[in-house]
Amino acid sequence: MARALKVLILGDIVGQPGCRAVFLGLPELARRLDADLVIANGENAADGFGLTPDIADRLFASGIHVITSGNHIWQKREIYPLLQTRDTLLRPENYPVLQGAGAIPGKGHCIVTVRDIPVLVINLEGRVNLSPLRDPLQVGTSLLKQFRSRVKAAIVDFHAEAVEEKEALAIHLDGEASAVVGTHTHVQTADERILTGGTGYITDIGMTGPLDSVIGMKKETAIARSLSQMPLKMEVHNAAAQIEGVLMEIDASSGRALSILRIRQPSAI
Ligand SMILES: [Fe+2]
Ligand SMILES: [Fe+2]
Repeated sequence: MARALKVLILGDIVGQPGCRAVFLGLPELARRLDADLVIANGENAADGFGLTPDIADRLFASGIHVITSGNHIWQKREIYPLLQTRDTLLRPENYPVLQGAGAIPGKGHCIVTVRDIPVLVINLEGRVNLSPLRDPLQVGTSLLKQFRSRVKAAIVDFHAEAVEEKEALAIHLDGEASAVVGTHTHVQTADERILTGGTGYITDIGMTGPLDSVIGMKKETAIARSLSQMPLKMEVHNAAAQIEGVLMEIDASSGRALSILRIRQPSAI
């Protein structure tokens, strides 16, 4: 059997601390883990809200092959042109399909080829406590069907809040996707497993950001928000960040997951 495909997937990169951890730590981490393909969620990379072209370029230059995103990707408008032109920068696929001037920039899937193995990467967003988007189960199924004959593996970043929605999507796609990994909550869960049909699953891969915080943001503001119930503006907590995610091994002949391992690398900075 040929060597398994090793895919490293990083949780939401939060602000400058998260970016620093990637710029300084990812090259060595990816080498040590022998990762063939690196995917990371970049929806919070620019000051905690959105992504800019400059930061996206630096993340790609640090060894990330595909940047996925989520509900916060729309907050820095300067990323919109790059969403249109950069094939490996994704927004969730299941936003409404609109034509003309109101069309939503970008797309939620791409094919990357590593070690001559074509891999489909899909980005979907949940609807529980988020926007009422198109059904991620149907959109995911139809993308997997559309590209099945052209790829050897398929990775889904499901950017969603609710555990039941994440598990339902993963089990719905079991045997069709090689992996369904959750993002968005910024908290890594300990439920990683391989489903009966061969899909590797984890509810949330966590956050690449400062741990001593409230989901990467300043603790004081988060507490004041809770106490006052006022929509106080959250700010990234500027402190050392750890890298969180998963390393997956995928059998490139069957597309099935062989292993899923949680990664939590403390900051060295
Ligand atoms: Fe996030
Ligand atoms: Fe999010």
